Amino acid sequence: MAETSPVSTQNPPSHLPTIFPYNSSFDSIAAFDDEIPTIDYQLLFSHDPEQHSKALDELARVCEDYGFFYLVNHGIPESVIERALEGISEFFNLTDEEKREYEMKDSTDRIRWGLGFSPGDHQTVQREYLKVLPHPNFQGPSKPPGFSEALEKYYKRDREVTLNLARAVSKTLGYEESYLEKVFELENGTDVSAMNVYPPWFESSTPIGLPAHFDAGYLVSLVQNVNGGLQALHKGKWINVNMPPNSIFINNGDHLEILTNGKYKSPKHRVILNNKVRRISLPTVHGPSLDKFVIPAAEFVDEFHPPAYRGMTYKDALEANGYHVVDGKSCMAQIR
Ligand code: SIN
Ligand code: FE2
Repeated sequence: MAETSPVSTQNPPSHLPTIFPYNSSFDSIAAFDDEIPTIDYQLLFSHDPEQHSKALDELARVCEDYGFFYLVNHGIPESVIERALEGISEFFNLTDEEKREYEMKDSTDRIRWGLGFSPGDHQTVQREYLKVLPHPNFQGPSKPPGFSEALEKYYKRDREVTLNLARAVSKTLGYEESYLEKVFELENGTDVSAMNVYPPWFESSTPIGLPAHFDAGYLVSLVQNVNGGLQALHKGKWINVNMPPNSIFINNGDHLEILTNGKYKSPKHRVILNNKVRRISLPTVHGPSLDKFVIPAAEFVDEFHPPAYRGMTYKDALEANGYHVVDGKSCMAQIR
């Protein structure tokens, strides 16, 4: 496994000065520090009608223009997030033999550990991951002690926040707050989380930690130990995700894009290794019920907006490794 520096999970600095391997041969990974919009969770649910409607208008603009944002004032205690990230760090510090217990044996395994290598090079580890299903019936690894419990606490709060966000998003689309819950059958929804650790980049290989891809699901939430790696594409320009303290990064998923017939698009994103620190991320894909075939809803289709996607189930997306579909968005292929 590649060298790693000591993990840093405490008090992530708001804007870690990251020095990416900017170098002429890696021009294609350069990104900008443009501002990413911030959404205040409390204001979305404010009892002051003016504040509430202003916050919803801003959420509508951001979901349509960007498809990603920083969520602040979400109410999940910092300690819950830190404990989950520390647990992830401790898990990845287990011996390879201990971790191999979670290597995939069957496609229905609820816990999967694995390594992502440099393209064409099976020696250099660019990413190590641990996938679990936070919902329904979360089951985490038995080691290290307390890890599963810490994850469960985080996932429970994260799901509450995301379901509430889905209610706010429903309203931004002009529907009652239970709209997305109903069409995506969220009482049977499945959440998938892939915890990642990226070693610092040491000029040994490509600096790509995770190639550009789109996420399945309706909304994806992400927390991390430090800034310096995640980049999202906005109007053809890669932007560094520099999360403010105690915020959650949220992005639209492919199923929201299909349902809204392209109104709320899911953004392309990727991970670049920074050359300073080991980075840990905790993304969670919140999805519809597995068998729900999601197509552009009639509400978003008219003579000027014919259906732009064939549609797909969430299960299809996960089985086609939809979580890491590169470029083509093959499963939801545009039909025109
Ligand atoms: C992902 O997109 O799946 C992971 C993003 C990250 O590690 O920041
Ligand atoms: Fe992703």
